[in-house]
Amino acid sequence: MRQFTVEEMEAMKAEAGIAACAFVESGMQIGIGTGSTVKYTILELGRRIREEGLEIAGIPTSDATEKLSIEQSIPMLDWDSCEHLDLVIDGADEFDQDLHLIKGGGGALLREKIVAESSGGMIVVADASKRVDVLGAFPLPIEVNPYGWEQTKRRIESLCAGPVELRGTGYLTDNGNPILDAHFGATISDPVQLESDLRAIAGVVEVGLFTNTADVVVLAAPGGCELIRKQTARL
Ligand code: A5P
Repeated sequence: MRQFTVEEMEAMKAEAGIAACAFVESGMQIGIGTGSTVKYTILELGRRIREEGLEIAGIPTSDATEKLSIEQSIPMLDWDSCEHLDLVIDGADEFDQDLHLIKGGGGALLREKIVAESSGGMIVVADASKRVDVLGAFPLPIEVNPYGWEQTKRRIESLCAGPVELRGTGYLTDNGNPILDAHFGATISDPVQLESDLRAIAGVVEVGLFTNTADVVVLAAPGGCELIRKQTARL
């Protein structure tokens, strides 16, 4: 695939982020993802609230998303008052042909997975650079408990051919946990099994593999937007 310019990338993010809003109707409770693509979804929902009277409420997947959503006058829910969300719109770092995902480049994977699992459907907004044949070129984010993280890292290394790196100096997620980025390379041929194997390691809080979770990918390319639906899509 050819390299895209910064302007092309931004235009694709905007196109996908806005197009996904077509799934949102008044009365819905929605999960609001995190990242530079979903930013455009939040801005578009804010516009529809102001200009079209759209009535929705949302659960944010990160502090950053909560802040932007409030700025856009999107009413926020808490989990006490919300057992179930109609859908979630979120970004991805990679997706494959089965719509398995790598997420967590922005560090929000734990909240993103809780929200995705609580939603009646998941719409992924992505630009063309996110589509891959085999997952893993993007380092897999793994949120771990701070206690004994060095030991958790060793156990993850036993499953990963490449290096496993502690993210940033002093980087912590919104939940106060470090992230380990595992460099598998484009070798994750069985993401379902790998997600399960990694989650079985004590100290692993959550894994950035989202398997059998996404229903639809709204994929923006320079030629326009494409909807990729799973055969079993709930939306
Ligand atoms: C946040 O932790 C991530 O899962 C994002 O959803 C993902 O990194 C996609 O972000 P962009 O839309 O910024 O590429």
